[in-house]
Amino acid sequence: MIRKIGVLTSGGDAPGMNAAIRAVTRTALSNGIEVTGILDGYKGLVEGRFIDLKRSSVSNLLNRGGTILGSARLPEFKNDEVVVKACETLQANEIDAICVIGGDGTYRGAVSLTNKGINCIGIPGTIDNDIPGTDFTIGFDTALHTIVDCIDKLRDTSSSHHRASIVEVMGNRCGDLAIYAGLSTGAEILVTPETGFDEDAVVEKLAYLERQGKNHAIVIVTEKLVDVNNLASKVTSKTGFAGRVTVLGHIQRGGSPTPNDRVLASRMGEKAVDLILQGVGGHCVGVDDSAIVHMPIDEALNMPRESKKDFYRLFERLV
Ligand code: F6P
Repeated sequence: MIRKIGVLTSGGDAPGMNAAIRAVTRTALSNGIEVTGILDGYKGLVEGRFIDLKRSSVSNLLNRGGTILGSARLPEFKNDEVVVKACETLQANEIDAICVIGGDGTYRGAVSLTNKGINCIGIPGTIDNDIPGTDFTIGFDTALHTIVDCIDKLRDTSSSHHRASIVEVMGNRCGDLAIYAGLSTGAEILVTPETGFDEDAVVEKLAYLERQGKNHAIVIVTEKLVDVNNLASKVTSKTGFAGRVTVLGHIQRGGSPTPNDRVLASRMGEKAVDLILQGVGGHCVGVDDSAIVHMPIDEALNMPRESKKDFYRLFERLV
């Protein structure tokens, strides 16, 4: 019998996390279940930093970026004694189950807790879109909008100055933000984990485009793959373009969530609570086509991510 559930956000924050907190809270309250907000992810859970969430606590949240609960990364949550401590804290506060909103690290914590008898449901919240078991994560759409807006602006100034703009986007080890941004902005070159990086090929292609009369170029690069400053220097010395670097950085994680992210977060939050009410634990929710689905987290984490080959093919065809 579930009387009280907890909700936490963990890992890198993502726009739409607040909408998910709101959906979890209001779905649970509508079912007569109390809700505790756990501050700063698993860190706050272990330390017992909790707040009561009422309907009014989650008012005016749909449009707010970040997470009102705060987020943190706690690598120590891999250790059994830390998980045991978290369980004791939950039991002492009579919290029967929790919804965790975050990425794959967050999901692993949810499995550990479920294995110790506290049912947890994972909700995918990260701008990276790198979580298996869902077509889209909460925050991806908003981050993509931010990136596209920035690249549209960069194109203006690059074309005035005969430059090649090298734009580094987030994604951790996932190229989804880059490929969607590339298709949305008509970038000239992409460098992602899927394309790999061949510096000579990138430089040669830019030199070729410049010779063909292009007055600017946009190169979108997934973070953690390339020394973008070094690449820009090579572009300047070996092509007719001046190379310039823009690292979009944490700006991609902020801002008011798009309607798509708000709706996705609301649907996933509702589903997570429904699963808890059915006695399910260790599952994650996701979207498959437009349906909200769920599966065991262990299964999701072992699934290959859907290939974006068609997107790369289209990019090459339209460039
Ligand atoms: O996972 C989200 C993310 O923004 C990644 O894209 C990025 O690599 C990482 O978090 C940055 O982490 P931090 O905010 O700890 O610097």
